[in-house]
Amino acid sequence: MTKIQMTVDGATVSDDVEPRMLLVHYLREKVGKTGTVIGCDTSNCGACTVHLDGRSVKSCNVLAVQADGHEVTTVEGLAKDGELHPMQAAFHECHALQCGFCTPGMIMQSIDLLNDNPKPSEDEIRLGLEGNLCRCTGYHNIVRAVQTASGQEVGS
Ligand code: FES
Ligand code: FES
Repeated sequence: MTKIQMTVDGATVSDDVEPRMLLVHYLREKVGKTGTVIGCDTSNCGACTVHLDGRSVKSCNVLAVQADGHEVTTVEGLAKDGELHPMQAAFHECHALQCGFCTPGMIMQSIDLLNDNPKPSEDEIRLGLEGNLCRCTGYHNIVRAVQTASGQEVGS
């Protein structure tokens, strides 16, 4: 077992974990952050996306020990004082989900996308989200949500 300590959604957590434990399993099983979900076993779907020191990562592709000493933000850490994060609000406003399974990862990846490129074109949004799969929406409203969150005009 290896002792690790990190910040998750603003709180310090510390545990003894097996070195092979994935960050997504640590977050869900040890920290209780079940808002971060597992949608595949091939690192393809992006449903498990969180921020590690402010950059999006697929948490099924990172070992918990690799996050030792770092700062993790999950979808559960985005709302502040009862107010949704602007990206969460945009997903809500644009109906950018159906079953919602992909949504935590989509939102985390979309925030990272705007951090890099505050006014992305539609093509840049689609490219930036290519690592996140959605089986329900056809992506159209997700793109609209990211445009909305970036303050851009949204076509119908
Ligand atoms: S669960 Fe991590 S990419 Fe699918
Ligand atoms: S809303 Fe169902 S997978 Fe995206």
